[in-house]
Amino acid sequence: MCGIVGYVGKKPVVDILLDGLEQLEYRGYDSSGIAIKTATSIDVYKAEGKLANLRDVLRPNADKITQSTMGIGHIRWATHGAPTVLNAHPHTCNCGNLVVVHNGIIENYKELRSELEAEGCTFRSQTDTETVSHLVASIYAEVKDLTKAVQIATKKIEGAYALCIMHNNEPEKLVVTKRNAPLLIGVGEGEFFVASDVPAIIKHTKKAIYLTDNQVATLTPNSLKIENEKEEEIEPKVEVLPWEPVALSKMGYKHFMLKEIHEQPDVIRNILVGKLHTSNSPIVLNEVKLNKETLKNLNRIQVIACGTSLHAAMIGKYIIENFCEIPVDVEASSEYIYRKTVTDEHTLVIGVSQSGETADTLTAIKQSKARGSHILIITNRPDSAMAREADSLVPVSAGIEVSVAATKSYIAQLTSFYLLALYMAEIKGTMAQSDLTNLKAEMLLLPQKIEQILAHKEEIQTCARKYANTRDFIYIARGINYPTALEGALKLKEISYINATGYPAGELKHGPIAMLDETMPVLSVLMKGSVYEKILSNSEEAKARNARMIALTNSTDAKLDDLFDFIIRVPEVTELLSPIVAMIPLQLIAYYIAEFLGKDVDQPRNLAKSVTVE
Ligand code: F6R
Repeated sequence: MCGIVGYVGKKPVVDILLDGLEQLEYRGYDSSGIAIKTATSIDVYKAEGKLANLRDVLRPNADKITQSTMGIGHIRWATHGAPTVLNAHPHTCNCGNLVVVHNGIIENYKELRSELEAEGCTFRSQTDTETVSHLVASIYAEVKDLTKAVQIATKKIEGAYALCIMHNNEPEKLVVTKRNAPLLIGVGEGEFFVASDVPAIIKHTKKAIYLTDNQVATLTPNSLKIENEKEEEIEPKVEVLPWEPVALSKMGYKHFMLKEIHEQPDVIRNILVGKLHTSNSPIVLNEVKLNKETLKNLNRIQVIACGTSLHAAMIGKYIIENFCEIPVDVEASSEYIYRKTVTDEHTLVIGVSQSGETADTLTAIKQSKARGSHILIITNRPDSAMAREADSLVPVSAGIEVSVAATKSYIAQLTSFYLLALYMAEIKGTMAQSDLTNLKAEMLLLPQKIEQILAHKEEIQTCARKYANTRDFIYIARGINYPTALEGALKLKEISYINATGYPAGELKHGPIAMLDETMPVLSVLMKGSVYEKILSNSEEAKARNARMIALTNSTDAKLDDLFDFIIRVPEVTELLSPIVAMIPLQLIAYYIAEFLGKDVDQPRNLAKSVTVE
């Protein structure tokens, strides 16, 4: 949620900032801006919308700023105030000498704003961030030291922030600090980089320092000083980032989302390497520190996540309870953190997150850790804040996901849940050997099954075109695929803006059925197994109300032809693994509808890939 960058060194700064912001566009794309230190002043440039608009704004000013070697930049996902140029960062104080970029939310901004207005500050934006620029500037006017001013100011600020600040009177100095928001400092030769995330700096350096909460760092081209909350200097801990710079390319696909959907067979193969060799070998999860004793002492598992990761968690519950006979609760992190949650040392708490940075999940994890629970994190970012809180880690290894709508990371999370559930079942001895062997054998075949679906994607495209011009869409399923219906609906609404909802098929008759008529598409996830006949009956009920019926099925049952207007067939798969196979056509339907409607598939409106505000 919002990305910040900064640079102080000897190189021209503009391209470093713009490249960094481009790498952080997944964090928001409502507006962007940079502030550049010139010989005499700080110049600020801002634009509404995507980063390309900022590049347009900068073009006529290129000569003025090409020689500058210090600056800060921001890409915004709006929280306070509309996504306008006025509300875009960097924000300045009234004299224009101090500039701030911020990621997070200043919770007491109203009180601070009233105090600062009473002192004579004039606010120009509706943002919470502008209070920081006025506050630090007014303290600076007294103490005449930027680091000191930031230290005093942050003691008055409540909320979450990563801040990067510079002042015209301190020409070679950046001051950065953070609380409950990500921030790292890249260490170069005679230069320092500041960023919300690794991709913004990895092209320049692999050496980085992760600031911890309430530390304040002062950076000049040749010096770095980090102080803790008590203003004591501390030794910086420089880490080598386990990353290689990657050139992100669509590889000929029209959108990153379509490319990432096609990567899924290889994503599963990569995850299984080293963890599941053959159907007879035990699951290997080196970073999971659960043994027979710890599992025996567990009386429940609590899984917390948001959005797509929450849907993966719901399927995780189903399979862990089925394989391991441990009760599992699943909850949206944003609900979990604001009530009296009962977890203790006998609870295993599993956090699921593509980014490993989602603020609500991170807070939930920290709360449970403080209560003594074992923390297991399933994440695509083993270098993330959540991974750093983990007692056990399951890295999902999906590779960088550029499209804001999660696809391959979801399939990777599901695959990881299967591995984890099987791993625990093997330790606990809760599954028959033949069931274990059969399931593992089927898991090894999943990549080929997905390839078979992708080979027939034109059929799914035809289905998408047929139903694209609809206002609403209903997905129904039961059992292990109820979360598949939720995820299918989420994918459709986030990239096409169609009002799509997933329901447990049995719930349709308890209210939603009132919405059905000849305009409403109803997609039934109809996989063979324990609830097949039940969903079939629920589909009949919908058909009787004239709904436009679509089946997603692995059945060849002839009676489906009369019931459904369109049938998408997927390969044979055991019910327990069917969520992985069933999800691929649903991703493609969402993709092709959005593409057909001409939507911005990879960067849908109002969204950001990493949600670092609560
Ligand atoms: C949907 C999507 C979001 C995320 C959610 C949690 O396509 O991407 O719903 O799943 O914001 O993010 P992570 O998994 O990074 O915690």
